This record gives sequence, C-alpha cells and structure tokens, in this order.
Amino acid sequence: MGKSDHDTILVLDFGAQYSQLIARRVREQHVYSKIVPYTISAQEIRKIAPKGIIFSGGPMSVSSEGSPRPDEKIFSLGIPILGICYGLQVMSIMNGGEVKRPQKREYGFADLHVKKASPLLKDIDENVRVWMSHGDSVHALPDSFECIASTDNCEYTVIANDQSRWYGVQFHPEVVHSQGGTQLLRNFVIDICKATGDWSMESFIESQLASIRETVKDRHVLCGLSGGVDSSVVAALIHKAIKDQLTCVFVNNGLLRKGEADLVRTVFADNFKINLQYADAEDQFIDALKGLSDPEEKRKVVGKVFIDVFEQEARKAGDITFLAQGTLYPDVIESISPSGGPSVTIKSHHNVGGLPEDLAFTLLEPLRELFKDEVRELGKELGLPDEIVYRHPFPGPGLAVRCIGEITKERLETLREIDAIFIEEIRKAGLYNDIWQALATLLPVKSVGVQGDERTYEEVCTLRAVTSEDAMTADWFQFPPQVLQRASSRIVNEVVHVNRVLYDITSKPPGTIEWE
Ligand code: XMP
Repeated sequence: MGKSDHDTILVLDFGAQYSQLIARRVREQHVYSKIVPYTISAQEIRKIAPKGIIFSGGPMSVSSEGSPRPDEKIFSLGIPILGICYGLQVMSIMNGGEVKRPQKREYGFADLHVKKASPLLKDIDENVRVWMSHGDSVHALPDSFECIASTDNCEYTVIANDQSRWYGVQFHPEVVHSQGGTQLLRNFVIDICKATGDWSMESFIESQLASIRETVKDRHVLCGLSGGVDSSVVAALIHKAIKDQLTCVFVNNGLLRKGEADLVRTVFADNFKINLQYADAEDQFIDALKGLSDPEEKRKVVGKVFIDVFEQEARKAGDITFLAQGTLYPDVIESISPSGGPSVTIKSHHNVGGLPEDLAFTLLEPLRELFKDEVRELGKELGLPDEIVYRHPFPGPGLAVRCIGEITKERLETLREIDAIFIEEIRKAGLYNDIWQALATLLPVKSVGVQGDERTYEEVCTLRAVTSEDAMTADWFQFPPQVLQRASSRIVNEVVHVNRVLYDITSKPPGTIEWE
C-alpha cells in the first residue's frame, strides 16, 4: 500500500456501520479517501502519507476489555486527526482524558450549541440539530484539548486541540440528518488537512486509462459482460484505454429479461464497436436445468454451465492475458470482522474461479476503488445509456430463480412477458429510480379463473418491488394502487397462460428479495 497520486484521507475503521459513509462523504469533497482497519501501523500510514486521518465510530465501549485501539504512534505523526464517536473516545483516553457511561444511552437528534469559534466549526450555525448515537461519552477532557460545542446531555460533544490539529465529535457528521455535518467534514478535510480537492471522475478516468495501458501493454483482455452496471462500465472503460485489445464475451443463457441480449449487442457492438463474442447458449442452460427445482442446485448448474461456455469462448478469443472484473470498493475493503483479513469477493455471476489452470488469467479490476454511485457516475461519463447505468440489480442465475418449480422455455417466455409489462408500467409511472429492484416471479401453482365464458386453469405470478440501501435489508414498495391495477390488468390480458397476479408485501428480513 503506497502513496497514491492524489491527496488521501485515511478512514480508520473501528467497526462502525458508517465507515463507508464517511469515506463517501470525503470523496464528495473531491478528496480521495480510503478505509483501512484500525490495526494499521503508524509506519504504514507514513508510507501512504495521508493528509488527514479519521477515526470511525465503532460498536464497542472503550472501557471494555479488548476494545480496539489504534497504534499509539499515530499521535506522533503530525497528521491531523478527526475522531467520530468511538473515534473521539479512543483518542480521548489515549491522551489523558476520561470516558464514562452515563445512565442513559443517547440516540437520535440533539441540539448542538457552539461555544467557541474553531476552524472545525467554520460556517456552521451556532445552534444546529445533530444525530447522536452513543452509550459512552467523554467525561474529562484529554490533555491540551478544549470543548468547542456541547449538547444539553453531553458537554464534550465537539473538542479540539488546534495545535496538534486533533478534533473529536460525539455526533455523526457523516449522516445526512446532522445539520452542518457536511460543512464540518469539509472544514476538516480542506481547511485543516489542506487536502487538494482534485479527485474527480475525469481525473479518475485519466489515471485509470494510463494505468490500464501501462499494465496491459500490447497484450489482450477478456471481459465477461452481463449487461449489469459493473461489467458494462468496466468494458467501456477498458475499451476506451486499449480499444481492440479488449474482447467481451456475452453469454445468452436463456434466463435473461426481455430485450436484454439485444440491448447489450446494440450498445456494445453497434455503438461502442467493442469486439463482442455473443454466445447463444440458451439450449445448453435449459437442458442442464431440466427437472431441477432446488434453488441452490439451480444456482450451481447455472454457474457450472456458465464456466463451460465461458471457457469455450475464452479459447476462441485467442491469446488472452487479463480477465477484467467489475469488483467494487465495498468488495475489497479489508474488514475488521472476526474473520479479519482482506475480504475479496469474486462476483458470482462472473464466477470464473472454476476455469482450468491453462486459462489462469491475471485479474484486471479497474473499479476496485469505487463505490456503486461512483461507478454509475463513471458510466455516465463514458457515455453509457441510462438504461444500463441505472439498471436494477439482476441476479446472476437470472430468471432461473424466478421461475419457481419446473423451468421450461415456455414458462420462461411467460415470465419474461410479465416482467417486461411490470417494468414498463413502473417506468411509465416515473417510479423506476425510486425502487431498488422490481421483479416478477412465476409460482409453481395453478389457479382457476374465468375469461369470457370460459373457465381457465393457468399460471400464477407475483410482483415484488423493494426499496433498499444495500440489499441487506429491504422494504416493500408502496405503489399508488392504479400502477398495480394497470400492471395486473395488462398481465392477465396480454400474457397467455396467466390468470392471477399477486403483490408481495414481505419485508427483508424475514423474506429475501428473490423468492429462491
Ligand atoms: P436476496 O434474494 O438474498 O438478494 O435478498 C439480495 C440481492 O442479491 C441478488 N441475488 C443474486 N445475485 N447471484 C447474484 O449475482 C445470485 O445467486 C443471487 N441471488 C440473489 C438479488 O437479486 C438481490 O439484488
């Protein structure tokens, strides 16, 4: 881990749920930020030479045994530090202060009163509402610190040691509910740390293009294109850097949504003029899935056939050295979870980990420093259409896990039509971007209906739409009733073999987003 080209702010992660949010807020100030485990040594930090350090919050109490402490030599580096919540407390007790647990946990809004002017509080109103969430609080100030702002329940809410340029805040400036939070982070990063705000998407593109060219030289890169945001952006970026030295493989597994294969071909082969190997493997996938209904078995089979097809395509592509992957920053942040160590996840839908040894490619992962919203911004800059950049997530095994029960070409076709109508109605209502993910699922039951004078006995489908931040938890989306009404009426009228439509109102947990 060496010094990067840009000014860097290091976020030391003490296990807070908000560490990624802190890093993103810093990047919004056009300053590059990087999350590292709190165990990083002062020596390693010196090598990175950050302009500033932020200690994140964390779930532990500083007084409990074994609670995390950073390397104490960090305080001799002469680098500005901002401690947030647990970060403030740990900085306090390591510098002669005291932390205690008051009778009541404080959770929610509090009114912050500024007591003393400080570079950290520049341009922040004297009274603002901030978001607090803590058990412990600082009870006696650390050496050479002074109190610069308080709330009614917590005297030492913001403390400062201007000489060392060390600051601590008990509230969470990174959450949007904290008034003045963005300004406070800006004051720290720009005014106190003197970081140059020159991290931007254009500069990222420029440095990545140079780095891709330097890595690849005259060799060749293969990229598995799924039509999703990440692989599309990777392909567009690498193509911009090395043009014909990139070959993309798009596997049509017969489990895609309506129009998806055409969209990928139009955007990448026709518009971008990327070398695109299109593998029509529909029959291979459907044959392999015959008779399977267990969700994990379906996933395994889809994964295995994908590897087989991808291997064939890779051999066709000729002499390839690199395999491009859309790995993102949240996939590679070293976690301080009990398992520890770097947690690199290879995306399941391009899981090419199973390729034979003679196809041992070197991975090229140009998005590994970016958050998802930055990837979308990059996609826009590279000229990808909104239809791809703002696409809802779609699972690797595709419609296989949305076609419950027996998978046949006919049932997949039915599901594709239902899904297309549902998404079209959502778009028409202008709700697509308010929804994290919308999906239709075909159930393994039949229902009795009546159409004209005739009794029908046909398929049942469910519609599901959820809001979410990260797919870990989700709420069902509250549609205006007429949107569901239109979707339902069009589905039963336009899609042969469907006579009943349900709307799924289960949150996650306990329900998952997908049915399987
Ligand atoms: P669940 O259903 O677990 O899904 O709430 C969370 C998110 O992950 C997607 N998903 C998958 N993505 N391969 C993938 O690439 C899979 O096997 C898979 N299963 C679920 C799901 O669509 C949602 O966005």
